[in-house]
Amino acid sequence: MQYINEHEAAIHLKEGEVVALPTETVYGLAANALDPVAARKIFDIKGRPLIDPLIVHVHSLEQAQELAFFNQQASLCAQALWPGPLTLILPKKPIVSDIITANQGTVALRLPNNAIFRQVLELAQCPLAAPSANPFSYISPTRTSHVEESLGDKIPYIVDGGPCTFGIESTILDLSGREPKILRPGPITAQMIEEKTGIRTNVLNVNEKHPIQSPGSLSKHYSPSTPLVLFECEKEVPKTERSAIVYFQKPSHVNYVSGQDVYWLTHNGSLKEAAKELFSMLRKLDKKAYKTIFFQSPPTEGIGIALNDRLYRAASKIGGFIRSEQV
Ligand code: TXA
Ligand code: MG
Repeated sequence: MQYINEHEAAIHLKEGEVVALPTETVYGLAANALDPVAARKIFDIKGRPLIDPLIVHVHSLEQAQELAFFNQQASLCAQALWPGPLTLILPKKPIVSDIITANQGTVALRLPNNAIFRQVLELAQCPLAAPSANPFSYISPTRTSHVEESLGDKIPYIVDGGPCTFGIESTILDLSGREPKILRPGPITAQMIEEKTGIRTNVLNVNEKHPIQSPGSLSKHYSPSTPLVLFECEKEVPKTERSAIVYFQKPSHVNYVSGQDVYWLTHNGSLKEAAKELFSMLRKLDKKAYKTIFFQSPPTEGIGIALNDRLYRAASKIGGFIRSEQV
């Protein structure tokens, strides 16, 4: 994998190559969204099934309107919350190819708020399809080192943007059906959407199947290889050898147990800091060959709702159903 700048990235993208790029959420693996052969390369590199549609990134609302039909709610959301970590699912226009949408009538659109990604969009002069730059169903990358360690031998180019600001994938809001529905919680919360646009949304339950194919909302996704158990209260955690216990915030007193390593996501309890650290922490722990990772649920407010969603999906490997009482 070669490190390049924004200008070189735009040239390679125009020529039908794929390039890993930073966004404000996670690193994406980008290709020209109007070139089906280029877009196909993304699926091969990620090992992603062709039934899993891609998010298309645009540099302006006008460019988005060339790709999808905007109703009033969509225009409101775009005006109030773009650029930013919000993906809108809308009825697609014919110019969008079936490989992008996995043969569905809708397309996922996002106007990102990362200076590097936006500059590449401007220079390349085409919309860019970009899923997270990780092997299918593994943890999304929030640093270049994450991209390098899991796909470095398959991705030809990357632009370095440092650690991602949010550290967790965009909110996905489906506006193509009868009711606005959040398919994937993210940095833009239901509360923020309502405050900024007046639109009330339902959040897809983590165990609910959505009629639209959206593997990011599968109950098992974003998973480390090591079994992960979510807990709420420390006394629920068994004293097991070769395990890790991760607190949300640095505890005032730690009861060290032999064979059990102790970590925390934040020093000060900031949910924003926790979001930035989460995927790094999961990747780091996954390399240590623990038998189990015990992870404390973050508070379920603001971006904490999205953190719990990702941890729940990461944890769903064990018995498919995680409740703290079962720990
Ligand atoms: O923050 C993000 O959204 C990052 C950065 C790179 O932009 N991208 C990202 O893409 O997370 P990806 O492909 O890893 O996750 C996108 C999710 C997938 O679960 C996909 O199934 C869903 O969006 N999706 C895409 N198009 C859809 C559609 N038309 N209907 C329903 N879900 C869709
Ligand atoms: Mg992904």
